[in-house]
Parts: sequence; structure tokens; C-alpha cells
Amino acid sequence: MSETYKIETHTELETNTLAKRLALLLKAGDVITLEGDLGAGKTTFTKGLAQGLGIKRTVSSPTFTIVKEYSGELPLYHMDVYRLENSDEDIGFDEYFHGNGITVIEWAQFIEEYLPKNFLNINITYVDEHTRAFEFMSVGSHYADVINELKRL
Ligand SMILES: Nc1ncnc2c1ncn2[C@@H]1O[C@H](COP(=O)(O)OP(=O)(O)OP(=O)(O)O)[C@@H](O)[C@H]1O
Ligand SMILES: [Mg+2]
Repeated sequence: MSETYKIETHTELETNTLAKRLALLLKAGDVITLEGDLGAGKTTFTKGLAQGLGIKRTVSSPTFTIVKEYSGELPLYHMDVYRLENSDEDIGFDEYFHGNGITVIEWAQFIEEYLPKNFLNINITYVDEHTRAFEFMSVGSHYADVINELKRL
């Protein structure tokens, strides 16, 4: 069954903390899909995830490269597929999804046809200047477990 979890953050720091909590629960091969408008906080959330994975390098938006790799306790593959909105280009997604890192995809709705069977979707909505609403939704039982653990942290 699909699990969901809704939570609001009121500062960038709270978003960072939320992402770090999630990072503790992830394992090699996990895929996180991020949806939300421009400026919703997808990259901000990814920075927190990277910190939680022990990545020291600063994560910046990969808009011009589609994917950037960072090494940490687990490697992070950070994708921003915004530019693939009207394209059906496959940049070799499966190799990342089945690699031994964590994949995070901004604007994942644009590559829906390439997404793996299971993933954790996070939808971020702008509430006001400093408030963002996060909605986590699991696809597959592993991510339902992740959400249940996240609720308890
Ligand atoms: N509670 C909050 N959580 C996250 N970011 C926040 C929050 N409040 C304000 N912000 C601000 O919102 C902006 C979020 O920008 P960010 O680059 O993370 O968005 P994005 O979803 O990646 O956008 P894009 O689609 O352009 O890649 C930042 O300037 C950040 O400081
Ligand atoms: Mg971004």
C-alpha cells in the first residue's frame, strides 16, 4: 500500500533538517523524485540530502548537465531533467537507478516513462515566502517503510 506523509517547513534550515533525516534512511539504489514549481525548494532539499549522506562538496543545480555525481558514504546522482520536458531522450537513466548510489531527480514528471517501478515521490508546494508544504508518497513497499520510519524520527 502507498504511504503518504505531509509536513510543512517554515525556513530553509527546516527543509535542510528534514532532508538530512530522510538521508539516514536511504540505501544504495534508492530513487527520490522531486516535483514542485520553480523555487519550490527541490535543490534546497537535495543539498540537505547530500549533507546527510556525508557529502562535503556543495551541491549546485545541475541544470546545464542534467546529472551531477557526488561521492559520499553513498554516491549521490543529482539530476535536473527540466530541459527534457519536450524530449524523450534517455540519458541512460537505468544505469543510475541500478547503480550503487542514491538518485534524486528534480522535475521527475518530465521523465515519467523512464522512472523505475519503485521510488519515493516528494511534491513540494509554495505556501508563502518561507513556508513550503512537503508531501511524501511511496511507490513500492520499501519506500512505504522509509516513510513510516521518517514519521518516527
Ligand atoms: N521553507 C523553505 N524551504 C526551502 N526553501 C525555502 C524555504 N523558504 C524559502 N526558501 C527559498 O526558496 C528557494 C528555493 O529554491 P530552490 O533552488 O531550492 O528551488 P527549486 O525547486 O530547486 O527550483 P528550480 O525548479 O528552479 O530548480 C530558495 O531561495 C530558498 O532560500
Ligand atoms: Mg532546482
